[in-house]
Amino acid sequence: MSILALFWFLLTYIYVVNTIILAQANFVFNRCDNTENYTRNSTYERNLDATLSALPTTNSGLGFFNFSTGEGNNTVNSIALCRGDVNPDACSSCLNDSIVNLRKLCPNQKEALAYYDYCLLQHSNTNLLVYPQKRDYFFQFNPQNTTDIDRFNGALGALMDELRGAAAAGGPLGPLLKFASGNRTGPGLTRIYGLVQCSPYLTEQQCSECLEEEVSLIGINDNGKIGGKIVLPTCYFRFQMYPFFNKSIRVATPPPPFPQTTPPTTPPPPPGMLYS
Ligand SMILES: *[C@@H]1O[C@H](CO)[C@@H](O)[C@H](O)[C@H]1NC(C)=O
Ligand SMILES: *[C@@H]1O[C@H](CO)[C@@H](O)[C@H](O)[C@H]1NC(C)=O
Ligand SMILES: *[C@@H]1O[C@H](CO)[C@@H](O)[C@H](O)[C@H]1NC(C)=O
Ligand SMILES: *[C@@H]1O[C@H](CO)[C@@H](O)[C@H](O)[C@H]1NC(C)=O
Ligand SMILES: *[C@@H]1O[C@H](CO)[C@@H](O)[C@H](O)[C@H]1NC(C)=O
Ligand SMILES: *[C@@H]1O[C@H](CO)[C@@H](O)[C@H](O)[C@H]1NC(C)=O
Ligand SMILES: *[C@@H]1O[C@H](CO)[C@@H](O)[C@H](O)[C@H]1NC(C)=O
Repeated sequence: MSILALFWFLLTYIYVVNTIILAQANFVFNRCDNTENYTRNSTYERNLDATLSALPTTNSGLGFFNFSTGEGNNTVNSIALCRGDVNPDACSSCLNDSIVNLRKLCPNQKEALAYYDYCLLQHSNTNLLVYPQKRDYFFQFNPQNTTDIDRFNGALGALMDELRGAAAAGGPLGPLLKFASGNRTGPGLTRIYGLVQCSPYLTEQQCSECLEEEVSLIGINDNGKIGGKIVLPTCYFRFQMYPFFNKSIRVATPPPPFPQTTPPTTPPPPPGMLYS
């Protein structure tokens, strides 16, 4: 794994930002891209306001949000994705909070992103529905080491392979919900719990590749820790020695009709459908 990890590292010029913001209990990371700023009272700022206020109304039904406004240089794109096991209220409140906080944290940047435990928010003047995105990633690990790294990694690797395959192929609600969670017995009688998710617009191959890259990033950053999470803009991965996710997939209710958006290509799932 370390050779694969090194390969990825050299290949992708990874740019790591590891900022832990403590102000918000559920806040994980944010990044403001300082290469392009907008000015106060500009068309760009108005478009950004309009985009982010409409974004929460665009739920695909699977916790994915996508909204853009403006033209040419004043185009503002935004997307958000909730974790697949988060209920619709928690999803909505995470997105609302992240919009308010990201505007404060990145007050004049055209491009910014925020990762919370339950949701991811991005806005940019460039297209966000692309893979791969900029190679910045965020991670957080538990400080404790496992006592038996080889056996732990064996169990974690097997769990990850299983979850990666399941998420990439699409969950029980169809190919757009690229989410999977599960557990496996680790060293001793302990159990490892894992959760993975990809952005819905990734292909099966891209989702699998993205998650594979995250697994390789564990090797670079903190091999042998008893828990952690790694997030790229297009995929998410977390493991712990305790259950930390809802066993059911909790999808949002289908969105109300919203004139500016095209309806999702697959019919919205029935509200509150459960999967265990
Ligand atoms: C954008 O604004 C930030 C401060 O908000 C500043 O640090 C950065 O240098 C600015 N970038 C450019 C290209 O002016
Ligand atoms: C932005 O517009 C408001 C009201 O139109 C005005 O009060 C404020 O001074 C303007 N700010 C800048 C930086 O131009
Ligand atoms: C758009 O931005 C590019 C570079 O940022 C600039 O060269 C071009 O003139 C801009 N176009 C308009 C219409 O402002
Ligand atoms: C999020 O904001 C929208 C619109 O501003 C509001 O309708 C909704 O109730 C809010 N959701 C939560 C959970 O606060
Ligand atoms: C975990 O292991 C690393 C290196 O093997 C060591 O530097 C670190 O102090 C250990 N952490 C704890 C909490 O024991
Ligand atoms: C572990 O996963 C199995 C399915 O693979 C499931 O039946 C079981 O309930 C899970 N155990 C816990 C403690 O979550
Ligand atoms: C995002 O929204 C645009 C229209 O606003 C739509 O054309 C596009 O298909 C959407 N993409 C995804 C992945 O939802």
